[in-house]
Amino acid sequence: MLQGESAVITGAAQGLGYAIAKAYAREGMRLALMDIRGDLLADVAAELGALGADVLPLPVDLSDAAATRRAIDAALERYGAPRVVVHNAALLITRSMLDITFAQWRQEIDIILQAAFLLSKAVWKPMIDAGGGSIVYLSSGSGYRGFVEEVAYNPGKHGIEGLMKCLALEGAEYNIAVNCATPGAPINTPMSASNYTAEQKRRWVDPALLTPAFVYLARQDAAGLTGHRVAARADGSWDALNLLE
Ligand SMILES: NC(=O)c1ccc[n+]([C@@H]2O[C@H](COP(=O)([O-])OP(=O)(O)OC[C@H]3O[C@@H](n4cnc5c(N)ncnc54)[C@H](O)[C@@H]3O)[C@@H](O)[C@H]2O)c1
Repeated sequence: MLQGESAVITGAAQGLGYAIAKAYAREGMRLALMDIRGDLLADVAAELGALGADVLPLPVDLSDAAATRRAIDAALERYGAPRVVVHNAALLITRSMLDITFAQWRQEIDIILQAAFLLSKAVWKPMIDAGGGSIVYLSSGSGYRGFVEEVAYNPGKHGIEGLMKCLALEGAEYNIAVNCATPGAPINTPMSASNYTAEQKRRWVDPALLTPAFVYLARQDAAGLTGHRVAARADGSWDALNLLE
């Protein structure tokens, strides 16, 4: 069902986003991949291209609204309405309220929440015209609990959970599924390398093990799973919690 369909994945140059891109390439999907690390993104595009995937690498700073609009417009022009958008890019720099500046706060919020809005806004009408689609935002424990020194990342993740609930309700009549996903296991990624404790690093797993949940989410529309937070587990299974009730 996903063969020949297209996906937009942000933060695809490394970590979980790269693992999702590779899993979608294996499904035969055409991929518009966004990341601020254009150098790494070019390597990913070359690697997945060598596996036979049709890949459009889009280097972009997702905290920049105009650049984000240009990138998603380029994806729409190349592939038309995507079957799935996975907004996975994020920045976590732990800083206390005393230390953080407004510019730093805005940067993290804009990558997480502003980009979620802009990407979803751009694909909304094309998805309606195509008869449906699936939108997935990467959330976190920081999407529903507080943590010290997360005064930007944490409200950004809470924000995308709120946007998800509203769009899942609005998307119902247009057959658009909107969900959040979280790693349901500690994952070995550059973000984790900077933020995990030694104990978490002892238990971390390859993010590729979590990708079956994202393949499942790519197939969803409003008749399937929508309005949920999906925790992807390392054994390839997942738990889904309905946030609309
Ligand atoms: N690592 C974890 O344990 C963990 C836990 C909970 C949730 N998450 C979420 O999972 C997602 C993926 O996490 P990860 O561990 O792979 O992170 P990561 O930092 O390893 O990868 C994130 C990617 O986003 C890109 N990115 C950062 N800023 C950007 C910008 N301004 N514009 C475009 N791209 C940008 C980075 O270059 C990187 O390739 C994130 O949304 C994160 O919040 C991760």
